Amino acid sequence: MKILVTGGAGFIGSALIRHIIANTKDFVVNVDKLTYAGNLESIASVAQDERYTFEHADICDRAKMDELLRRHQPDVIMHLAAESHVDRSISGPAAFIETNILGTYTLLEAARYYWLQMNAERKRVFRFHHVSTDEVYGDLEDAHTLFVESTPYAPSSPYSASKASSDHLVRAWHRTYGLPILITNCSNNYGPYHFPEKLIPLVILNALEGKELPVYGDGHQVRDWLYVEDHARALHTVVTEGQVGETYNIGGHNEKRNIDVVNTICALLDELAPRRSTESSKYADLIVYVKDRPGHDVRYAIDATKIQRDLGWTPQETFETGIRKTVEWYLCNSAWVQNVKDGSYTQWLINNYASRGSAE
Ligand SMILES: NC(=O)c1ccc[n+]([C@@H]2O[C@H](COP(=O)([O-])OP(=O)(O)OC[C@H]3O[C@@H](n4cnc5c(N)ncnc54)[C@H](O)[C@@H]3O)[C@@H](O)[C@H]2O)c1
Repeated sequence: MKILVTGGAGFIGSALIRHIIANTKDFVVNVDKLTYAGNLESIASVAQDERYTFEHADICDRAKMDELLRRHQPDVIMHLAAESHVDRSISGPAAFIETNILGTYTLLEAARYYWLQMNAERKRVFRFHHVSTDEVYGDLEDAHTLFVESTPYAPSSPYSASKASSDHLVRAWHRTYGLPILITNCSNNYGPYHFPEKLIPLVILNALEGKELPVYGDGHQVRDWLYVEDHARALHTVVTEGQVGETYNIGGHNEKRNIDVVNTICALLDELAPRRSTESSKYADLIVYVKDRPGHDVRYAIDATKIQRDLGWTPQETFETGIRKTVEWYLCNSAWVQNVKDGSYTQWLINNYASRGSAE
């Protein structure tokens, strides 16, 4: 099978491509614009493989998408390209509307045109797999309810609203035009090669540099965490075995409060890379509480029963095993970290947290 992956130089896309090349016989065409979040070093380990090809392109460019589909003739499309950071969507929503909504629309139209030209046998195999987030469901008010596939959409941030819009478009292209689609909505991912603007890598790297560890509000927001390689396996399972037109929630059964995630990382670092400055100092001493971001959802939690029951997928990592692997990876891969920390990224971090100040 030849799989066209959009956003394959990003955090999840690169894990997906590494998984496909290492564990299947499938071919991959990686289509990525290489925004600040795209990093070809994350797929350096497979870049020389004869089953891997890279195309530098913007999913908003319809002519380019048509040309790539015509030239590569993929059997399926897995669409991950997106603007993905909630904080950035608050300070600059335009790029989110552009890529997540207009880009998905453009890709859907290119895919529909491409699919219409296929013979019956290729049409039967073709899938458009749209990769989305549990954030489209909004906030959970109590401690027990879980998001299921039929939970009504109630997005809170420009990011989640743009992803919700793209999910609606994908479903409409199935209902209206018959395009064979699949949608997956996944909880928060963590693991190797995660861009250091997101909570877990930010905490690990700030701690190692002796910098403050910013925690929004009281840190009691609850997220369900999934190790990225478990997500990659789930995505490949869905695209090969999922039922056309269906949505699958993907989650890790690992609900954690943000402050507990930060404390866990600090404890692991105390064990694996103790602070040298003063004998008694602990990484947790670096935690500072900053003003909460607007519209911050309190709790997300996913019910992944359907993908387990119908497709037999379950996560292999617990939070404890996955977070240890993640911390160890960042300790061993300082060159990757150094290369992604360019000037513009550093400046964005300073602006984002300086404008919020301390909440204490
Ligand atoms: N990170 C998570 O925890 C999480 C959870 C659930 C779902 N998702 C979804 O999974 C997908 C991948 O997330 P991620 O964390 O890997 O994101 P990421 O920000 O790390 O990577 C996004 C990739 O898309 C590329 N890209 C952006 N705009 C593009 C465009 N216009 N054309 C082509 N390429 C473009 C970037 O260069 C980058 O390589 C997204 O759709 C996201 O909404 C993410």
